[in-house]
Amino acid sequence: MAVTLAFDVYGTLIDTNGLVTALKKMIGAEAVEFSRIWREKQLEYSFRRGLMQKYENFALCTSQALEYTAASCRVHLTRDNHQELLEGYRTLPAFEDVQAGLNLLQAGDFRLFAFSNGRADAVEELLVGAGIREYFLGVISVDDLQTFKPDPAVYSHFLKKSGGTGEHSWLISGNPFDVIGAISAGMRAVWVRRSPDSIFDPWGIEPTLTVKGLVELHEQLTGINDKMT
Ligand code: 2OP
Repeated sequence: MAVTLAFDVYGTLIDTNGLVTALKKMIGAEAVEFSRIWREKQLEYSFRRGLMQKYENFALCTSQALEYTAASCRVHLTRDNHQELLEGYRTLPAFEDVQAGLNLLQAGDFRLFAFSNGRADAVEELLVGAGIREYFLGVISVDDLQTFKPDPAVYSHFLKKSGGTGEHSWLISGNPFDVIGAISAGMRAVWVRRSPDSIFDPWGIEPTLTVKGLVELHEQLTGINDKMT
């Protein structure tokens, strides 16, 4: 059975800090910190909306998190600035290793899907913009269920829609909360740890595999696949 790979999108394929240069022009030296808070708040809003069962799509979480971040950093963003940043978020860049890694994986015995908190149309636009849409058999979004990762239902939904089994399906994610969510829902999961400064949550649930990037992911998964067949 071909192994199914569920690629998380924001923070794994696509760099959520890709607007730092645009932010520097708007707000100066605080841009890096602003970008970090914006991302954290966006995820917090998704977690809270999931728990409260008050779903609104991920783009709204992103927009409201931007508003919060500006207030918290005491930065005045004009309506045009806000609009420009949200437009930019729709075409964020891919991480450097992504194209090469996906190329290798697609040529191997793997079925590749994108699996995201983002709505399918937003994810399609992002992947096309980054020049990597062609690598995926499909885009599977939590929007189908109107809840967010790490609700276990979304990982089951992925398996159902991709036609994979937990044993032969791996989530690939740079987000520790996503890795833990997938493993506790019965999938295998790889943590993509691009920076040695990233910390994995000490919950006693470890990633099945940890890699520094997608080229190493191909190497490791091919080794595991060869042993299993
Ligand atoms: C995604 O689902 C978690 O933001 C991440 O794309």
